[in-house]
Amino acid sequence: MNKILTLAHYYTIPEVQKLADHVGDSLDLALYAKENKADIIIFAGVRFMAETVKIINPSSRVILPDYNSTCSLVTMTDIDKLKEWRQKYSEYTHVAYINSSVEHKVTSDWIVTSRNVVEIVKYLYSIGKKVIYSPDRNMGAYLNYEYGFDMKLWDAVCEVHDKFNAYQLDKLFSEIGGSKYLISHPESPLPVLKKSNFIGSTHGLLNWIVNFKGDEKSVIFVATEEGILYNMKSKRPDLDIRQAPIYSGCKCNSCPYMKMNTVELVKRAQKEYVGFEIDYLSDDIIKQAIIPIERMLNFKI
Ligand code: 13P
Ligand code: SF4
Repeated sequence: MNKILTLAHYYTIPEVQKLADHVGDSLDLALYAKENKADIIIFAGVRFMAETVKIINPSSRVILPDYNSTCSLVTMTDIDKLKEWRQKYSEYTHVAYINSSVEHKVTSDWIVTSRNVVEIVKYLYSIGKKVIYSPDRNMGAYLNYEYGFDMKLWDAVCEVHDKFNAYQLDKLFSEIGGSKYLISHPESPLPVLKKSNFIGSTHGLLNWIVNFKGDEKSVIFVATEEGILYNMKSKRPDLDIRQAPIYSGCKCNSCPYMKMNTVELVKRAQKEYVGFEIDYLSDDIIKQAIIPIERMLNFKI
């Protein structure tokens, strides 16, 4: 009898999260898959995350419900140009955000997620390394600004977080009385991050909400993908939690790739094991990609 595990990212719709054995951020899902060995993993998330799960669990079959669920940080990065860039800075340490293709990961020395990037880059600077950071320009710019790093940055963005807008936030804040907070994911643009009361990974943002002890009448704006607002509101139904505005003033913003994980496709994958199987990674590429990933996994914060 095959052991089957369904994993869902926080950015999927609530109905899909309810079909999963475990819901989490990208790092959490990969670690959960490692700890709870399964023959077949149905991964309701995006392709780079499913690839990471496969690299960490090569003996499991990993199935993504929809072939098209990619990520703009992956599609905006031309691998040949990235290799040239890496070559240009060959004496630098290359830190790559986990939101990257396998080919991208093998060019790097360290993989990071938004949960551990600050500590890992601080560590590298503390031992005298010069660092290049890819692919997220916004996250890199924030790290350089906040911690005084001088990392060279690759130029790609998350098409979802990049839409949050500081001007619209100011406008909204001036219309609302009482206390207000803004918490943001570091993939957001720097002007938005500069206005934030807290900046953290999806996991960190959720924890911030869970532990919020301020005035319950406060309005809390969240600059990240809308899916996680479901988790936030379920954990703290007493709070007024709203999504931050984008350039059009709309308080709406969702990842089209995460939303490709429809209830129908996830159920079909669970029943018939069909979808897009991550079965194209050679042993050689898995062997190369695991090196920077394991560096991250073995790094103790
Ligand atoms: P996490 O690594 O926090 O799950 O975030 C992934 C992501 O795609 C953010 O937009
Ligand atoms: Fe990629 Fe942005 Fe979607 Fe996250 S929210 S998967 S970074 S496009």
